[in-house]
Amino acid sequence: MAKKRALITGITGQDGAYLAKLLLDKGYEVFGAARRASEMNVSKLQDVGAYEGIEYVSLELQEITNIFRAIEKIRPDEIYNLAAQSFVGASFEMPLFTSDVTALGPLRILEAIRQIDRSIKFYQASSSEMYGKVQAVPQNENTPFYPRSPYAVAKLYGHWITVNYRESYDIFACSGILFNHESPLRGLEFVTRKITHSAVRIKEGLQKELCLGNLDAKRDWGYAAEYVEAMWRMLQAPAPADYVVATGQTHSVRDFVDAAFAHLGMELSWSGSGTEEVGTDKASGKVIVRVDPKFFRPSEVDMLLGDNTKARTELNWSPATTFTELVGLMIEHDKKVLAHNGI
Ligand code: NAP
Ligand code: GDD
Repeated sequence: MAKKRALITGITGQDGAYLAKLLLDKGYEVFGAARRASEMNVSKLQDVGAYEGIEYVSLELQEITNIFRAIEKIRPDEIYNLAAQSFVGASFEMPLFTSDVTALGPLRILEAIRQIDRSIKFYQASSSEMYGKVQAVPQNENTPFYPRSPYAVAKLYGHWITVNYRESYDIFACSGILFNHESPLRGLEFVTRKITHSAVRIKEGLQKELCLGNLDAKRDWGYAAEYVEAMWRMLQAPAPADYVVATGQTHSVRDFVDAAFAHLGMELSWSGSGTEEVGTDKASGKVIVRVDPKFFRPSEVDMLLGDNTKARTELNWSPATTFTELVGLMIEHDKKVLAHNGI
């Protein structure tokens, strides 16, 4: 039997690397789409051992012509659209760019599928950020959305256009509403990796303080390597649908900081409040965590907590890695990186 062909956009990102590895292991022919750069960032793909097995294609989500060309040429069975301007904080500074890539990007791909071959299955990387100012706790597939950032508004468009093309043109299109998922491959701009990377450096005396924004924000954090399995399962289901993918547990940013330093054998005491809050290392009496208002967002998502019942029952998917294990594996990775690179 011919190998299945999958096209993954956002191949250089965290999820792109884990999904590529998963599909290669399942015997797929994997085509990785990356936007043109003077030097493609392949470190995540190398980390998971997927770099060699992929056929690369240059693809910019803002440019419809190269999307048509890539799909015409590859004729994939499945397309996973993971590419996006994915950093919420940056979306307040680049709302137009974010909208073009993150909202209209999926539309361009869907339109290419509609015109080239409607049997191509499509996965859209939707986000729990769409729940924003949450209208119910926990959030499931029926919870109304209330986006709180240009990123979330753009993702909401991507979600609904996916639903619309499914309903209008009978395309097998699924929207995966994924809650935050992290890993050692997470970009340093996201709070979890910023914390683990800095905690290791502070422990080693290479950095004095970790400056953060809102410590009270709560997220449902899972392990990215497990979440890509849910993406694949959605496209193997008997019928296309939308699914929440989450752990069902929520923790604050402060909890994450505590867990990271605890893994390194350090205990913090917290004092002050709001923008004056600091975390002090109990053993040395030194302030090592400080709130800096520059990391606050113009409008915040205070709390996310997902209800994964549908994914559990219909996809037989469930998360395995606990919050403490996730923090631990990220810290252990950053310790190795530091030992290897010395920075
Ligand atoms: P990520 O590490 O930030 O990766 C984003 C990818 O998109 C990168 O490969 C990036 O390429 C690519 N990209 C950005 N702009 C592009 C453009 N104009 N044209 C083509 N490619 C472009 O994100 P991730 O954590 O893997 O997340 C994957 C997807 O899931 C994203 O759509 C994200 O919004 C969504 N999501 C993530 C989470 C999460 O917690 N991780 C939760 C829900 C939804 P470069 O390397 O060139 O920058
Ligand atoms: N990045 C960052 N940096 N966030 C901070 C900081 C900081 O110094 N201090 C506090 N935070 C808070 C943010 O205000 C937010 O409430 C929370 O930590 C998480 O921020 P991020 O790690 O940047 O992730 P996010 O939740 O905004 O977005 C991520 O998850 C979404 C799914 O809910 C991204 O991966 C999105 O692409 C994804 O859709």
